[in-house]
Amino acid sequence: MLSVAILAAGKGTRMASSLPKVLHEISGRTLLQRVLDSCNELNPDKIFIVVGHKSKEVENSIIKNKNIQFIVQNPQKGTGHAVQVLFQQVKKQEGKLLVLNGDVPLIKAETLKKLINFHDSKNADVSVITTKKNNPYGYGRVFTKENLIKKIVEEKDCNENQRQNLLINAGIYCFSWLSLSKIINTLKSNNKQKEIYLTDTITLLKKSFSLEVEDNGELQGINNRIQLSKCEETIQTLIKEKHMIGGVTFINPASCTISEDAIIGFDVIIEANTHIRGKSNISNNCKIGPNTFIKDTTVNENCEIINSTIFESKIMDHVKIGPYSHIRPNCEISSQSKIGNFVEMKNSQLDEQVKINHLSYIGDSKIGRNTNIGAGTITANFDGTKKHPTNIGKNSSIGANTVLIAPINLGDSVTTGAGSVITKDSQNNSLAIARSKQVNIKNWKKNKT
Ligand code: UD1
Ligand code: CA
Repeated sequence: MLSVAILAAGKGTRMASSLPKVLHEISGRTLLQRVLDSCNELNPDKIFIVVGHKSKEVENSIIKNKNIQFIVQNPQKGTGHAVQVLFQQVKKQEGKLLVLNGDVPLIKAETLKKLINFHDSKNADVSVITTKKNNPYGYGRVFTKENLIKKIVEEKDCNENQRQNLLINAGIYCFSWLSLSKIINTLKSNNKQKEIYLTDTITLLKKSFSLEVEDNGELQGINNRIQLSKCEETIQTLIKEKHMIGGVTFINPASCTISEDAIIGFDVIIEANTHIRGKSNISNNCKIGPNTFIKDTTVNENCEIINSTIFESKIMDHVKIGPYSHIRPNCEISSQSKIGNFVEMKNSQLDEQVKINHLSYIGDSKIGRNTNIGAGTITANFDGTKKHPTNIGKNSSIGANTVLIAPINLGDSVTTGAGSVITKDSQNNSLAIARSKQVNIKNWKKNKT
């Protein structure tokens, strides 16, 4: 039987944040969710999450399943105390207990499996993941004899000599429940921080083994925002390299961020300062950026998007967007359409070959094939309480600076006069014009002087 305990009760003082440490995010997922996701891959019988500081916020943040049980640790007197509290609240204590710090977010399921197999092969009381760090500052130092661990000494409790040891404790342990149960309540807090350290169990147990692994960034613990940004960088590098191998060109990868869930086709060029977030899908031969933000959006083949922001929308093939377009949620832009500078769209569907080239607001609208929307067109969709739809047929031509007061329906091949305020529906093939006639007053200047 395998149980897992994730320690997530601490405040995270060194983050200097009102948000609990484990709720900080890396590439859109919290530290805790990341650790939890890796643990779920092991299919354990039970996952205990030890919460304390802002426990409700932490509990509400995770994707729940029936194996997860929260253990409340209040007050928080250290990692050893967290496990003591766990022992008080859990009846079924059989087999192995994998304990993970909630602030080691990049840990992979494979590494955890390796630890469990190692633990089994040694028939150990406890097995600990260790690694050598060039800069071990802040971590507990691990002192071994062969691969048995004699003790772990926290940074703050180390003397000068001990501090030189580069072998560190990653904060990931596999215990035998039975062995741990015999000593867990004997832990003391006679150290610099006056905390009950989980690491002191190592000395109390006999068969304490070290599984030393290569440090490839996976074991980075997060105590402050410098370490948070290091983890972000590690993940981003992996994501971008994966896409590069898959056929994506990044002009300036360091300036771009891509979510783990993003799918990008081949021969896509991503220009500088482009950010692709959420579940976005960019198809082959697109050119995205520079300076573009795309979230939860599908972009089909051969699109060009420059200097624009797009949320939760669907862009078909051969569409050009930008510079400076803002496509808000629930837009569908069909093939060969063009959205130009300073155009804002929301909840609107465009048929093929629609052009909205300049300075427009299009909201709650449906626009037919090959219609041209002139510069400065505004759909006045909001009457102060409700939103109303605008429908425009195909092959229509909306004159510059037209205001369309919704609800309104314009047919196919309709033209509106520039500067019109259109309040009435208009049939196919008509001209709708609603503006005052121009008056020319002769000799106007002369009369004045
Ligand atoms: C800990 C280890 C250190 C190791 C490092 C790896 C101890 C004593 N030290 O130090 O050897 O090198 O992790 O990253 O364990 N927590 C609780 N309840 C508490 C205190 C902490 O749940 O009472 C949780 C925190 O929320 C955090 C985790 O335990 O997720 C680790 O706590 P932290 O204070 O960050 O320990 P470190 O000083 O990093
Ligand atoms: Ca830590």
